[in-house]
Amino acid sequence: MSSDSMNLSLSNLNYSLPFRFKEPPLTFSWIGFALIATVLALIFFKRDPYAHIPAVGGSGMISSYFTAKKSYNQFHELLSIGYAKYKNRIYRVPDKDRWNIIVSRPDQIEELRKAPDDVLSFNVFINEKLFVKDLMGPTLVENEYHIGIIRGQLTKNLSHLFDDLREEVELAMDDNIPLTEYWTSLHAYSTMVQIIARASNRIFVGLPLCRNTEYLQVNIDYTANINKSRDILIRMPAFLRPLAVKLLTTVPKSIALAGKHLGPIIKERQAKIDEYGPDYPDKPIDFLSWAMDEATGEERGIPELTNRVLLVNFAAIHTSSMSFTHALYHLAAEPHYLQPMRDEIEAVIAKEGWTKVAMTKMHKLDSFFRESQRYNGISFVSLTRLALKDFTFSDGTFIPKGSLLSAATYSIHRDEEKYPDGDKFDGFRFAKIRAGEGLNTTHQFVNTSPDYVPFGHGKHACPGRFFAANELKAMMAYLVLNYDVKMENEGVRPPNVAAALSCIPDVTAHVMFRRRRL
Ligand code: HEM
Ligand SMILES: *[C@@H]1O[C@H](CO)[C@@H](O)[C@H](O)[C@H]1NC(C)=O
Ligand SMILES: *[C@@H]1O[C@H](CO)[C@@H](O)[C@H](O)[C@H]1NC(C)=O
Ligand SMILES: *[C@@H]1O[C@H](CO)[C@@H](O)[C@H](O)[C@H]1NC(C)=O
Repeated sequence: MSSDSMNLSLSNLNYSLPFRFKEPPLTFSWIGFALIATVLALIFFKRDPYAHIPAVGGSGMISSYFTAKKSYNQFHELLSIGYAKYKNRIYRVPDKDRWNIIVSRPDQIEELRKAPDDVLSFNVFINEKLFVKDLMGPTLVENEYHIGIIRGQLTKNLSHLFDDLREEVELAMDDNIPLTEYWTSLHAYSTMVQIIARASNRIFVGLPLCRNTEYLQVNIDYTANINKSRDILIRMPAFLRPLAVKLLTTVPKSIALAGKHLGPIIKERQAKIDEYGPDYPDKPIDFLSWAMDEATGEERGIPELTNRVLLVNFAAIHTSSMSFTHALYHLAAEPHYLQPMRDEIEAVIAKEGWTKVAMTKMHKLDSFFRESQRYNGISFVSLTRLALKDFTFSDGTFIPKGSLLSAATYSIHRDEEKYPDGDKFDGFRFAKIRAGEGLNTTHQFVNTSPDYVPFGHGKHACPGRFFAANELKAMMAYLVLNYDVKMENEGVRPPNVAAALSCIPDVTAHVMFRRRRL
């Protein structure tokens, strides 16, 4: 190729192409260019299986790396950028080390929740994220009988167990929040964790263990323990992990300590079953009893039952404590919410007494939690699934095997079309809607839909949410009726902290409490 034609092709390419195209040397170079471009494009498309899915931030190897670095503290902002720009389309946001494919449209969230477990898997995702098998117990993922118990025995016995739950909530609140004439400042998060761990364990393992501080602390610390250990395991090849768990993590110590407390109780209950049969007189009604009823084979062992109890605490304690703290900060920053809630709770209690049914009639209280979960949530995404096989949405969007998918929880919950003034916290938002709808339960706290996903949606939606709602509402009702609250820094709600995919309430803030005056 002559240097002349080279110059021509470069400088005149844009506007003189149709004419120059006829000249043999130029034609040659143009075809060469097209060939190279095609080959490059083929290689590029082969390397990027997500080229057909729009990306937030850079989609190249280097630019996406820079966007991903932001995502630790700004994932929700990246999510919103994508939601605004690609609304109604599937898009992708770089997570720490991989793409998270984001689903927003209601019908596509329905497709996500309906996809079979062997195609889009929640369990495999959880196991890979938390190393459940390595860290928490080898059988927990394959045999999930605890979920059946939470959904069945626990949820269906809530009316029956409500008195126990309420009693433990009240005693734990009295012990942890002094009923004084003058304001007491308390570290909010750790106080709520103590109360929730104790009240929950009244129903998980019963009296007297639910009041044992060492047992409660193991369960409280287990979450951070798993989280820390996970960071160690993630850097290791799979074959080293079992050894690393033993040598480098404190998880086996936690399990042993929990077993020290649970072991004698399990033995004692087993002895009674052996002597008097499975329905022996005065058999405790709690998660541990149900687990012993349901467990078969090796699951009946003390270490296995201990792992199961720790797992349920893992799922319950910090999720519930963060949710309560989020709501508490709204209440303490805007104490004008106190009086209308007091009026409602007192009126319902006067009519119904303290029952589970009564809790469903406190619409303002229920709305306050539903709104707090909408506005804060504890996770910017939910319905997260790992694609074990290729999957295609009905609009043709192809999701290759190995992809991670999630619902755009944070952005869905702030969508102005779904929630007018969605950027504002309006504690009674849902109570106002329900006021016009009689007994319609569409807008109650525990109800999920493609527009409301803080508990997920569909078959993996949180099975513990009915229990959690009763516990949180019993706590808030007791708090509101017996205490005044305000922020130490009056009128100011401490900002949430974004950490990876979590929306965490400020875990350093203090709230002021005193005996109710009015
Ligand atoms: C307010 C407190 C809670 C929140 C916000 C919460 C949230 C969630 C979410 C988002 C999921 C995953 C659903 C999905 O993304 O598809 C989940 C699953 C789960 N939750 Fe909760 N949860 C709470 C309390 C509890 C409690 C108290 C328990 C136990 C009694 C519990 C037990 C579980 C279990 C076992 C799963 C796994 C379900 C499955 O594998 O199908 N959660 N929860
Ligand atoms: C409630 O608990 C009792 C006692 O443990 C149990 O036998 C029963 O099956 C539970 N109820 C339901 C509906 O699961
Ligand atoms: C989990 O670990 C990460 C990284 O080590 C840390 O930043 C985060 O705060 C931890 N979260 C919890 C709930 O302990
Ligand atoms: C409850 O309200 C929702 C909308 O707010 C409506 O779609 C639904 O049909 C209502 N359900 C009943 C049973 O009235």
